[in-house]
Amino acid sequence: MALALAARPDAEEPWPQPFARDVLEGLGRAQKTLPAKYFYDEAGSQLFDRICDLPEYYPTRTETGILRDAAGRIAARAGAGCSLVEFGSGSSTKVRILLDAMDAPAAYVPIDISAEHMRSAASALRADYPGLDVVPMAADFTRAVHLPADLPGRRVGFFPGSTIGNFTPPEAADFLRQAGETLGEASLLVLGVDLRKQVGRLEAAYNDAAGVTAAFNLNLLHRMNRELGGTFDVAAFRHRAFFNPVESRIEMHLESLADQRVEVAGQGFQFGAGETIHTENSYKYSVDDLEALAGRAGWKVPERFTDTDGLFAVFCLTRQD
Ligand SMILES: C[S@@+](CC[C@H](N)C(=O)[O-])C[C@H]1O[C@@H](n2cnc3c(N)ncnc32)[C@H](O)[C@@H]1O
Repeated sequence: MALALAARPDAEEPWPQPFARDVLEGLGRAQKTLPAKYFYDEAGSQLFDRICDLPEYYPTRTETGILRDAAGRIAARAGAGCSLVEFGSGSSTKVRILLDAMDAPAAYVPIDISAEHMRSAASALRADYPGLDVVPMAADFTRAVHLPADLPGRRVGFFPGSTIGNFTPPEAADFLRQAGETLGEASLLVLGVDLRKQVGRLEAAYNDAAGVTAAFNLNLLHRMNRELGGTFDVAAFRHRAFFNPVESRIEMHLESLADQRVEVAGQGFQFGAGETIHTENSYKYSVDDLEALAGRAGWKVPERFTDTDGLFAVFCLTRQD
């Protein structure tokens, strides 16, 4: 597919859209930047799964522990025969904790931009939960998502993994508002959020000794080479991740190690040595800030759960109307 596209530079839309458009726009900025959602091609999704198992990456095991402890209470709120909708479902691993605790859940709708990876996770779920209607949707959750109209029971949104941290706070509020509209009246949203903490702990989680996060970040360059006819010399860039205390976020960048010119999607871009592409933000919230943000987006917070070290929080949100 990528080769066929690369061989047709004169075609009306020679590069896959909207990827090409977003890359050209992002690399054209003074601070070069790329949307984090493009990390997740099949290779990126597999690398993310490996990140979740790293000793430095506390969020996954901490959130999983919280969900295990809280599953009974979340299931009681959801009620019998609910429909679960997961935004950014990835390998659909954590949702199993909720499904196992729930009373006869009727349907599960995984929504993810990484379509192939989501579909194979959906097949595995179908095999393990024969009574569950699994309805995968390959979609970008930053746009309006139209759920099947006939989903039975209460709609329960699930947004784990602190994926909300990839949005700026105003974008996060927009997402939560839109998720409320998508899920509809009387819905519940279970939201996992990484909390602000000691900088050393945060930075270690994004700079693992095995280099898996670096490979995840650098995979964006491989992806642009594969899909957009890019000429990135991947060895001429390095992964950087650090905490920005003013913005309360981990920033990931790809730093050019030399002055160089790169072609991608039919355009040339100049990089100075030390210049970066800003590839991801991962905002870290306090419980109070997150609850205020959810309130601005039309949600109440009747219940929340945290681990004993206060590393991570899972919020149960219900709509204000
Ligand atoms: C941080 S991972 C979390 C995966 C899983 N929910 C978990 O908690 O382990 C983010 C997931 O969201 C998906 N994703 C990222 N941006 C997206 C977007 N704009 N629309 C749909 N899915 C997106 C990615 O493909 C990935 O599976």
